[in-house]
Amino acid sequence: MTKKALITGIAGQDGSYLADLLLAQGYEVHGIVRRIAIEDSAHKLKNIQHVHGRVKLHVASLDNVLSLIKTIREVMPDECYHLAASSFVSYSFEDEMSILNNNINSTHYLLAALKEFVPRCRFYYAGSSEMFGAVETSPQDERTPFNPRAIYGVSKVAGYHLVKNYRQQYGMFACSGILYNHESPRRGYEFVTRKIVSSAVRIKLGLQESVSLGNLDAHRDWGYAPDYVNAMWLMLQAQDPDDYVVATGETHTVREFVETAFGCLDLDYRQYVKIDPQFFRPAEQVPLCGNPAKIARDLGWKRTRTLPEIIREMVTSELELYTTK
Ligand code: GDD
Repeated sequence: MTKKALITGIAGQDGSYLADLLLAQGYEVHGIVRRIAIEDSAHKLKNIQHVHGRVKLHVASLDNVLSLIKTIREVMPDECYHLAASSFVSYSFEDEMSILNNNINSTHYLLAALKEFVPRCRFYYAGSSEMFGAVETSPQDERTPFNPRAIYGVSKVAGYHLVKNYRQQYGMFACSGILYNHESPRRGYEFVTRKIVSSAVRIKLGLQESVSLGNLDAHRDWGYAPDYVNAMWLMLQAQDPDDYVVATGETHTVREFVETAFGCLDLDYRQYVKIDPQFFRPAEQVPLCGNPAKIARDLGWKRTRTLPEIIREMVTSELELYTTK
């Protein structure tokens, strides 16, 4: 029997790679999108344009439980991947009400609706290294205490506990992936890696003079997005539901990223990068660096790309955006 998967956030970086993976595995793939995405599909659905007609899109809103119930009853999925969230890390707490409400309620609505109408459905929840936040030890693993410092991390910790609760109290096959940063040519422009790559390419092509960044000495554990969606899928194929850290186990600085990206284009970043305090975030005392030993041991997961390989792929793909126009 063909397996059916339902993905929230299908048009995002991870959702689109997951759709690719599931289609290749022979799944029937369904995705939840907002009405505005259908109306502005050239922009908002660009990551899934290449699978147009092969995935079924359902218009629903994650803050409207009735629309979610309707979609779930229509699809009756075997697997549900909940990737949609306000995912840009806000340290200003400006949007704290909406981020908290959206991220927590959507997770709760989905779990409650699945428990009611299709309790056998396996559920994946996109947790984040931001759940560890201001950590005291590095690297972090599944036993490291959470200490979120941004409202986004607070919302992700709450979602993680909801997932655990539905697993323990109701016996649902529900798992959280605690994912560290993962990048690709489909990354959104607000995140530092895409911002650097797109600026470097525009500078090379004479379309931009410089780029303003925040702390170049910030460390991140950066992996390859397609590897991380593979981890999500592996979690739902496991014998038993569990939570896993997905990371590379090594960190690099924003400066190293910038140097490599500009270097791919034969540019010296020091001539083009400006430092702007508006992009600074509170300094991290202990770096966020994940230990992927558990998922490697239990599910055989491993990454396929190093950071320089990811950067080169991002630069090549960004250049193609201009040369194929
Ligand atoms: N965005 C941005 N813009 N970040 C900058 C800049 C800049 O101009 N300059 C330096 N940085 C630093 C940030 O301070 C941070 O240390 C690092 O670059 C990465 O920032 P982002 O790319 O915005 O990602 P993030 O780490 O905040 O969050 C991402 O990863 C999380 C998982 O670890 C997001 O994908 C989250 O949704 C995800 O949960």
